[in-house]
Amino acid sequence: MKLKNRVAIVTGGASGIGAATVRRFVAEGATVVLTDLSERGELLAHELAGAGHAVRFSRVDVTREHEVRELVAAVALEFGQLDIMVANAGIAQQALPVESLTSEAWHQMLDVNLTGVFFSNKYAIAQMKRQGGGGAVVNIASVLGHVGRPGATAYNAAKGGVVNMTRSLGVACAKEGIRVNAVCPGFIETPLIAGASDESLAQVTGLHPIGRLGRAEEIAAAITFLASDDASFMAGASLMVDGGYAAQ
Ligand SMILES: NC(=O)c1ccc[n+]([C@@H]2O[C@H](COP(=O)([O-])OP(=O)(O)OC[C@H]3O[C@@H](n4cnc5c(N)ncnc54)[C@H](O)[C@@H]3O)[C@@H](O)[C@H]2O)c1
Repeated sequence: MKLKNRVAIVTGGASGIGAATVRRFVAEGATVVLTDLSERGELLAHELAGAGHAVRFSRVDVTREHEVRELVAAVALEFGQLDIMVANAGIAQQALPVESLTSEAWHQMLDVNLTGVFFSNKYAIAQMKRQGGGGAVVNIASVLGHVGRPGATAYNAAKGGVVNMTRSLGVACAKEGIRVNAVCPGFIETPLIAGASDESLAQVTGLHPIGRLGRAEEIAAAITFLASDDASFMAGASLMVDGGYAAQ
């Protein structure tokens, strides 16, 4: 069990990659606080707690700084420590030419996919420093943090920001034993891309040399690796888990 006696927060843990990560973390022995906007998180926590795992749900909007601050304080109070933060909550938007991208849509994307990750990192790192150092932060960026996609202006900007913020914090916190790294998934079969047309899915599948889309469990495996001592020499890195998309 790679995460025995670790206390973890997973944001956006009710669905997709976040839910797969929660399942993998409890299987690896972690105590998990899964947070989400959606009350579906309560159902997942109930299911896993019923199977004997240490998990609970907390409704948190990552765009609200005070909610993230209070979440971390409550976890530290209840469990005495926070060892792992997975900043995963995110949204997608319909692809649009830049001239049709409204400032409201731009700000909404940046608020959730970049500022939400900033708040999650800020309060987790502050708590890890209060504990005397040590800990792992795993930010969920995207292959689109590294390569451009037409119509994805705001998403590309937000995920590129996550990649570079991860470098910055990885460098800043490494001496205190707090490892900040990112996972960059290719396109993964989750509700996030469920609205895409068959034509669009066929097009994105073709971007992955491995010949298929990824599964949430494959991303959860990489997140578990970065969160565990197996990644003890990694800091500020972006791990591509993208079926070869960005290597072309
Ligand atoms: N699915 C993909 O193809 C893909 C590819 C690359 C990166 N990602 C990234 O992986 C992460 C997870 O995506 P997913 O595919 O599992 O999507 P998903 O839609 O299945 O899950 C995202 C979760 O985040 C929650 N969420 C959204 N806004 C929130 C907020 N303000 N506060 C708290 N929770 C909020 C949602 O309620 C949802 O449960 C996202 O950051 C996404 O950008 C996904």
